[in-house]
Formats: sequence, structure tokens, C-alpha cells
Amino acid sequence: MKRGQFSSRLAFILAASGSAVGLGNIWGFPSKAAENGGGAFLLMYLFLAFLLAYPALMAELTLGRHGRSNMVSTLDSITSGLVQKRLGQLTGIMGVITATMILCFYSIIAGWMMAHTLASITQTLKMEKIAEWLVTFSLWRNICFSTAFISLTLLVISAGVEKGIEIWSKRLMPCLLLLLLGLIVYVLLQPGAEEGLKIFLVPDFTQLADPQLILSALGQAFFSLSLGVGTMLIYGSYIRSDENLPVAGALVTVSDTGVAVLAGMLIIPALFAAQHLGADIYTETGRLISGPDLIFHALPALFEGMGEAGALVAIAFFTLMSIAALTSSISMLEVPVSWAIETQKISRLKASIAVGVFSILISGIISYKFTSIFELVVVATTEWAQPILSLMLCLFCGWLMHRNHLLDELKQGVPDLESGLFWRIWPTYVKIFCPLLIVIILVQSFLPFS
Ligand code: PHE
Repeated sequence: MKRGQFSSRLAFILAASGSAVGLGNIWGFPSKAAENGGGAFLLMYLFLAFLLAYPALMAELTLGRHGRSNMVSTLDSITSGLVQKRLGQLTGIMGVITATMILCFYSIIAGWMMAHTLASITQTLKMEKIAEWLVTFSLWRNICFSTAFISLTLLVISAGVEKGIEIWSKRLMPCLLLLLLGLIVYVLLQPGAEEGLKIFLVPDFTQLADPQLILSALGQAFFSLSLGVGTMLIYGSYIRSDENLPVAGALVTVSDTGVAVLAGMLIIPALFAAQHLGADIYTETGRLISGPDLIFHALPALFEGMGEAGALVAIAFFTLMSIAALTSSISMLEVPVSWAIETQKISRLKASIAVGVFSILISGIISYKFTSIFELVVVATTEWAQPILSLMLCLFCGWLMHRNHLLDELKQGVPDLESGLFWRIWPTYVKIFCPLLIVIILVQSFLPFS
């Protein structure tokens, strides 16, 4: 069976940035920044994104293009000996499971975004009852919309790499950027917004050493760049051999962090503009509100206060969120689907339907037991599984992939690689520094004083 391939560098950059740019950037990042001292969090995040997440991203892309296969088969192919092979397969399987579990909780949040988009539309059409149902938290609303969202993801993935992932990334990413920029300009013109911009951009250096801030920024950097679960590995396996990987990876990192910063410039000023209109934006403990309260209460309060234009701004905002979520979820679904196609030898359509239906079921269970399971799944997959799997991928790339193979792989797109800075730093970096730093940050989060 012929494997799919991205047709150009731009196609890869848009698809990989589409995976990276998601609810993590537009919701997670500003929320965490609001919780952890604004500018201080931004600085730590940028530092970790380039120092730790970029080298780890390069490990995934290189492994993927070298293996030209899904995560399980790739890790199997670069290892030798029973123990190494088993470890490779286990890491691969954990990646496939984690990606699927992330899709299951992500689809619930993405469903809320779709429901709020529809609610803003029905509100303008004066269909109050429907709008009310759409914005009210309920089991059936959650199940309906997460199912719709996964079905949409399934449709894109079943069309394949070029006709599904590539075409939709090319269509949706420019829309996302336009919507984001338009909303920023509009919100920054609102009274009160300036104060929020200041809080977001001016760091309070005393907060930089806070272990909670560091762990939170690390988790955010890994989640945002879609690391550890094989999404970047599988996208790497669809890149052309003559592509310059270090540059392509750097462009993805820059666009991902760039959108996170832009989202911060939208959400935090919007929060303060909402305060100007009378909304309460601080919690009882005096911190800025974050999470669902921020997105579904404070921001709608701002939209309502804007009068006629508010309804359009609300539609634009929730559409932006839904698009960002879709370009990410397609990369999540591609992980188990490519594994099923390549190891179970079934067609793409069958694989997409099987994994899609399975994910709908699991996400239904999470919705049903929302209060007891949801948070658990989020923490287990994003704060633990992702950094640990990323650590494993760095170890596989640094220690188990032969240095000559690594060099040959990268040289195809960069003939003079050996004379450049990247090759002098990165191999040792990914072998020693990245794993060590991930371990230190994970361990310190356990310590009693953190
Ligand atoms: N990077 C995506 C976001 O920021 C989430 C994601 C995680 C996507 C893991 C794929 C794999 O929302």
C-alpha cells in the first residue's frame, strides 16, 4: 500500500502547526498565564518551548521520517535485541493509547466550543430556548457535541494524508489566523483591555522560581507542541526526504508559540475589558479566573456588553476555538489510525471508523462520569504520560538510533549539516540534557515544598 506524503514544506508546516495550535494555545496558555503571574509564565514558557520542546520535537520528526511508519513500528525498527524491542513496542503502544485518550477528553471541550458557536447563532436568530440548552452543561449536550466533533475528525482522517489532513489544514489555518488577528484588534480597542495587556506582557520576576509555575509551563510546552504521543512522529513520516527538518521543526515551534502569545494578547485583555463592563474576574483567593469560568462566563459577559457587534464577535470567537480544536484532533486520530492501517493491515476507512467509534464510546463514558474521571484523564495524559513518553522518545533517538543513521537522515535535506551549529549541539542535547531536565522537573513536582 502506498504511504501518504505531504506535497510541500508549506503543507507540512500548516498541518504540523495545525496539530500544535489548538485549545492548548488559545485556552490553556492564557488560562495558565492568568493563574501563574502573566508575563513570568510567558517567559518560562518561551524558554522551555525553545530549550526543551524544540529539541524533543526534532527527535520525533527525525525518528518518524527515518522509520516512515507509525510510532510502534518505528520504535520497533530502530531497536535490536528482545528487551529494547519490547521497550520500543511498549512506548509506541502507550503513545497510541495516550493520543486516543487525549482525543476523548479533547472532543468534549471542543464540543462545548461547537455548542457555543451554535448558541451565538441561535441567539441572534432569537431562538432563546435552543440557545439556552446549548450553553447549559448537561450530559446529553456533551455527548451529542463530542460525538459530532469526533465524527467530523473521522471524516477528515478517512480521506487520507493529502486529501484529508493536508487540504483541511491549508483551508483552516489561514481562517484561524485571520479570526485571531481580527479579534485581537477589536478587543484591544475596548476600554479596560490595556490593563490586561500589561499584566500579560510585563513579567513579575519573583514568580519565576515557583516550582508550580515551571511544571505548569513544561506541561503546557509539551501539550502545545503535541509531543510524546506520536503525532509529530507520524507527521514526520509523511515529510519528503529532501526537506530540511531542523528548519521545518523550528518554523512549527515559532508558529505554535507565536499563536499562544497572540492568544494571550486576546484573552487576558478581553478579561479586563469584561471587568470594565462589570464582570467579576477574580476568584475568592484573589487570583484571576481561568478555565471554563474564563471562557464561558467572563468572555460571554464581554460579548453581551458589546451590544449588536457582540453577537458577531462571539460567533467569531467560538468558531476560532472550534477550528483550532479540529486541526489538532485530526492529528490525534491519525496516530491510532496509522497504527491500525500499518500493523493490522486494514483499510484507512475501516481503521478510521473503528477508532472513531471507539473514541466516541470512551468520550461518552468520560461525559457520563464527568466529575470523577475528566480531570483524572487530563492530568494522567498531559501532565504525566506526555512528558514521560517524550523523555522515552529522546532516549530512543539519542541512545538507540545509530549516530550515523541520525546524521544520514538529517543530511538528506541539509547536506552541510555537520558544519552547522545544530549538529554540534542537538545530538548530545537530546541524549542527555533533555531527558535530565524532564526528570528534574517531574521529580521536583513531587517534593514536599513544591
Ligand atoms: N497541541 C494541541 C493543543 O495545543 C493538543 C495536542 C496534544 C494535539 C497532543 C495532538 C497531540 O491543543
